[in-house]
Amino acid sequence: MTAAEYKDWIDRELADCFTGFADMPHKGLAEAMRYSLLAGGKRIRPMLVLEFCRICGGDPSAAMPVALAVEMLHTYSLIHDDLPCMDNDALRRGMPTNHVVYGECTAVLAGDALQAEAFGSILRCELPAVRRAACAGLLADAVGLDGMCGGQFLDMSWEGKNLSEQELTDINSRKTGALLVAACQMGVAAAGGSEGMLAAAGHYGAALGMAFQIRDDMLDVLSTDAELGKPVGSDAQENKNTYMALFGEEGCRKTVEQLTAFAKSVLDEVFDDTEFLKALADSMASRKN
Ligand code: IPE
Ligand code: IPE
Ligand code: MG
Ligand code: MG
Ligand code: MG
Repeated sequence: MTAAEYKDWIDRELADCFTGFADMPHKGLAEAMRYSLLAGGKRIRPMLVLEFCRICGGDPSAAMPVALAVEMLHTYSLIHDDLPCMDNDALRRGMPTNHVVYGECTAVLAGDALQAEAFGSILRCELPAVRRAACAGLLADAVGLDGMCGGQFLDMSWEGKNLSEQELTDINSRKTGALLVAACQMGVAAAGGSEGMLAAAGHYGAALGMAFQIRDDMLDVLSTDAELGKPVGSDAQENKNTYMALFGEEGCRKTVEQLTAFAKSVLDEVFDDTEFLKALADSMASRKN
């Protein structure tokens, strides 16, 4: 499958989520959840789940609820990341942010509910129970205390502080890297892949994740609101520590190149048929949004 075909498939499946609430008293919460979930986005995390499942010999259709879970979790992290108490941003995926449209209270609850529904999607799916449990465990570790939430805590607490490269890595490996690592590994786990496959998927995901956040920091300086679909200059405004500040534009470019080359190199030791994942790493390194 091409990336565009994967994205279409994922978008169609997401469109079916949280429907059927039109006559319910709390339909407003479902509407807010669907607003951000369907607002667009590259869908790279669910794509990674499906493709790693496929190259491990699994059935991507059976892993779709796991892929959707990762996108729900990611969408929750974006809704909360944009809140006034965090990055205070008004534009996301080319649309007004969730709290701008629905208010802060509903935005917080939409994020909370998306997180819970993500675990529900995994735990109720048709995969063998042991694979469901493995996927849920990977996701929990990736987004909890030592994962995305820990990283977001550091991102907020260290605003305005002069950081070492190690400290910046401490933030980014958790806030962004952990979920990308988990997406790759959940694909392996959904297929019942080996420990060696899990490890290789983890190395690919970690390098991809670091390159991904460096590129994100670059675009915050170099892009435009219209092209990026979120406000440029947000990092400087919030006194964030970024790779652009630490390495400069050229340093960022070189580091993204090196990390991308490394991500691609770890795949062939363990997997066959890695063209899609290599092309995905390349396209993320030069992405414009
Ligand atoms: C944005 O993620 C947040 C970061 C982790 C840098 P994406 O760049 O994947 O955002 P969408 O899903 O395409 O909107
Ligand atoms: C946020 O990083 C990563 C998340 C956990 C959502 P950023 O704050 O840099 O993400 P954007 O630039 O708002 O998408
Ligand atoms: Mg942030
Ligand atoms: Mg942000
Ligand atoms: Mg950013």
